[in-house]
Amino acid sequence: MKQEELKAIASQLKHPTGEKGIEMGNMMNETNINMTHHSIQNLHIQSGDKILELGHGNAGHVEFLFEQAQNIKYYGLEMSELMFQEARQINRNFVSQKQAFFSLYDGNKIPFEDALFSKVFTVNTIYFWENPEQLLLEIYRVLQSKGILCITFAEESFMKQLPFTQFEFDLYSTEKAEKLIEKTPFKIIGKETLTEKVKSKTGELVDRDFTTLVLEK
Ligand SMILES: C[S@@+](CC[C@H](N)C(=O)[O-])C[C@H]1O[C@@H](n2cnc3c(N)ncnc32)[C@H](O)[C@@H]1O
Repeated sequence: MKQEELKAIASQLKHPTGEKGIEMGNMMNETNINMTHHSIQNLHIQSGDKILELGHGNAGHVEFLFEQAQNIKYYGLEMSELMFQEARQINRNFVSQKQAFFSLYDGNKIPFEDALFSKVFTVNTIYFWENPEQLLLEIYRVLQSKGILCITFAEESFMKQLPFTQFEFDLYSTEKAEKLIEKTPFKIIGKETLTEKVKSKTGELVDRDFTTLVLEK
């Protein structure tokens, strides 16, 4: 594949736009669904939880989140206008029932008041954070005391084999992510790395290692 094509894939993964972006949103939701479910399960959602997700893509997984407990609210934040629109459309019933709320933001400043959320999660976005330490402090600010943050990402050892990750991506191993978190007031209370089979671009099944870090305020 040409450098230009690889760059275009990386840029769509970072910020889906246009017709190709809709396809990318569907593909991401499908191929990353195990990772997303793992992040959600590690939140141990209970009745009354207010949950924030950063970078939900098309948010086809929000239905699964609402199956975890009664009386919960979901807030989604995106930087991509297209993913924001797709997510609102796919989840229009939850939106009209005022159970799910979607907003756009700049990727740095979370547009919510302090201590609003009991749980926060994010899947496959850490690679694109412009200022990781600052964003973690923002998440810390909007979490309640003892609130939980789950960060789920594919391991650097797997990701670096994909030709498009040389553009746009800052890759993380568990160790690198832990070092980042140590610079913040978060406590690491859990971590799990799993291996799953995913289809590669050429169609064969490959092993993908991914990790969820569970942090407490
Ligand atoms: C690779 S996709 C992952 C989507 C979904 N979470 C998944 O795992 O399938 C990354 C998504 O995060 C969004 N994004 C990129 N940087 C972000 C940031 N700093 N905060 C929140 N979302 C971000 C992109 O617009 C894109 O929709």
